[in-house]
Formats: sequence, structure tokens, C-alpha cells
Amino acid sequence: MISKKLEEAINAQINAELWSAYLYLSMGMNFEDKGLSGIANWFKIQFKEEQDHATIFMNYLNSRGGRVILRPIAEVETEWATPLDAFKATLKHEQVVTSLIHDLYFLSEEERDPATRSMLQWFIDEQVEEEETAKQLIDKLIMIGDNGYGLYQIDKELATRVYSAPAPLAAAE
Ligand code: FEO
Repeated sequence: MISKKLEEAINAQINAELWSAYLYLSMGMNFEDKGLSGIANWFKIQFKEEQDHATIFMNYLNSRGGRVILRPIAEVETEWATPLDAFKATLKHEQVVTSLIHDLYFLSEEERDPATRSMLQWFIDEQVEEEETAKQLIDKLIMIGDNGYGLYQIDKELATRVYSAPAPLAAAE
């Protein structure tokens, strides 16, 4: 059975993942409104992925005899003037999530819980990817600057992003 301390920390992480989902949905709706449907698509898939992250933690807590407690999700911003602003905010947010995941990992060491440590490994690797992707998109958008054709091209590119279930969920199906 999982310790109370870890149970509480994982519940907080579930809330953080659902907040992330809400944040990216808000970004998606912002760009839908601005006529950038490819960029909106990218954020809507990000919204699904964050829900998946919450689901992985919920499944794990249930499997360890813990109790999932869903708490209120705090308000998110609604307006980003440019895609560059949104991807900069994305990177900043993912850096916060990375440190939350690392704190959870260190807590699982303190609590002498190797199963939780092992479960978190997937998230540690995932965060490296999340930050790298945001950085790459920021670099591209800086290169594009205020070139309208460049923005049109990147919107087309991000329209091709498709959703696929993350490995821990795909394996559970
Ligand atoms: Fe659930 Fe984007 O980290």
C-alpha cells in the first residue's frame, strides 16, 4: 500500500496535470479564434495528452490501494497575442511540471517506494521531450518573426500533429 504522503503528492500531481490540460485547451481555443487552426490543433492534442498523464497517475494510485481525490482546477489565462507568446508560456509551464515530477521522484526515494520511482521514470523522460519540443517551436517562431508566409507554413505543419495514446496507457489497453 502506498504511503499517505505519496498518496497526497500524487493527488496534487493529478490536479497539476488536469490544470495543464485546461491551460492547453485554453491556448487551443485562443488560436481557433485567431484563425490559426493548425496551432489550435497542436494545443488540442496537448490537452488530450495532459488528460492522459492525469489518467496514468489515477490508474497508478488505484492500483496501489490509494484514493484519488479530485480537487478544483484553478483558472487559466485566456489570451495569448501570438503563437510565440503561447509557446514561451508552454515551455515555462513544462519546466515547472518537470520540477514537480522530480520532487515526486525524490519523495518516492524518501518514502522507500521503488514501485512509485519506477512509474515516475516514464514521466521524467516525457518531460525531457516536452521541453525540447516547446524549445524547437520557439526557435522556429523566432526565425519566422513577423513573416506571414512563415506563420502560414508553421500553422500547416502543426495541423498534421496526430494524437496517439502514451505508452503506459496503450500497454494497459
Ligand atoms: Fe503532463 Fe506536459 O506534462
